[in-house]
Amino acid sequence: MIEFIDVDKTYPGIEAPVHALDNINFKVDAGEIYGVVGYSGAGKSTLIRCVNQLESVTEGKVIVDGKDLTSLTPSELRVIKKRIGMIFQHFNLLNSKTIYTNVAMPLILNKTPKNEIKARVTELLDFVGLSDKASQYPDQLSGGQKQRVGIARALATNPSILLCDEATSALDPQTTESILELLRKINKEYNITILLITHEMSVIRDVCHKVAVMENGKIIERGSVFDVFSNPETETGRRFVNTVMQTELPNYVQDLVQESDGQYIYRINFINQLAVKPYLSQISKLYDLNVNVLFGNITELQGIPFGNLIVQFDGSAPELEKALLYLEENNVHYSEVNTYAG
Ligand SMILES: Nc1ncnc2c1ncn2[C@@H]1O[C@H](COP(=O)(O)OP(=O)(O)O)[C@@H](O)[C@H]1O
Ligand SMILES: [Mg+2]
Repeated sequence: MIEFIDVDKTYPGIEAPVHALDNINFKVDAGEIYGVVGYSGAGKSTLIRCVNQLESVTEGKVIVDGKDLTSLTPSELRVIKKRIGMIFQHFNLLNSKTIYTNVAMPLILNKTPKNEIKARVTELLDFVGLSDKASQYPDQLSGGQKQRVGIARALATNPSILLCDEATSALDPQTTESILELLRKINKEYNITILLITHEMSVIRDVCHKVAVMENGKIIERGSVFDVFSNPETETGRRFVNTVMQTELPNYVQDLVQESDGQYIYRINFINQLAVKPYLSQISKLYDLNVNVLFGNITELQGIPFGNLIVQFDGSAPELEKALLYLEENNVHYSEVNTYAG
């Protein structure tokens, strides 16, 4: 569990102070994969670095597993930091050391007995699929393999939390996919809570349960990945969602929305494509309404089809009301399309 309470962070800056975190309040529950997305300079790295005290907060509290980091003694802090692993965009490996020693490093620093180190490193290299690379050096590995070493090293001390700072941003899409799969496996098999930051909405879509959107040091919106993807509330949120699925309406639909003042035009979100189709055809049978699909697309959220349909109901207001009630009763999410152009 990680909780930020009224957190502020100001850097001195060269000309003027930089307010990197501005009244941050949010909570990551144990076992969750929580993603924070934002453009460069939003404050994401500062945020994540406050969790393992690579940065200290100016105001507020950061609570990790029930302990307020800002009030711990150095030795208490050392204990809790063992429970937090971190991986980085550029891997931060020691190039002069073998893969084995890189993974072993946190244990060597903790003065773990040699035989225990050997057993743990062997297990970890196997877990990340690099058993055959133990005696090689970082320069001999691909980017994806280097990140696997970074992950094995981060897991060495059996952390309960893994922090990922743009861990896939230096990797190609295919390698990104394999690293994300590994993160999902870590979350599931070891039940490790993951806080990740990224500027790529596809990363959020593929692994996260929850997401927060950050801008100018503030969290401007947050929620379940489903909620934010189906109904982004801020302009920046919409722009991020749009990078992975087209939620912005094509011109012909926008024209229709304008002409009809948005009347009878709805956005319907569904998490299982097959589940929603019968409802729409049922509506035309049950009520005196025609359902016209104007636009739609489907993407995958954590392996489950997630769709976005823009439909126009053709009929009377009372019939429409009944149809909407029917959708609600069947847990189909819908919202009226207004003219924000989305
Ligand atoms: N050590 C530092 N000293 C001064 N300013 C910093 C420092 N680190 C980050 N900043 C500033 O804080 C803001 C947030 O940076 P950062 O947390 O790295 O954002 P992000 O990871 O979202 O790109 C930026 O304006 C950045 O220039
Ligand atoms: Mg950053």
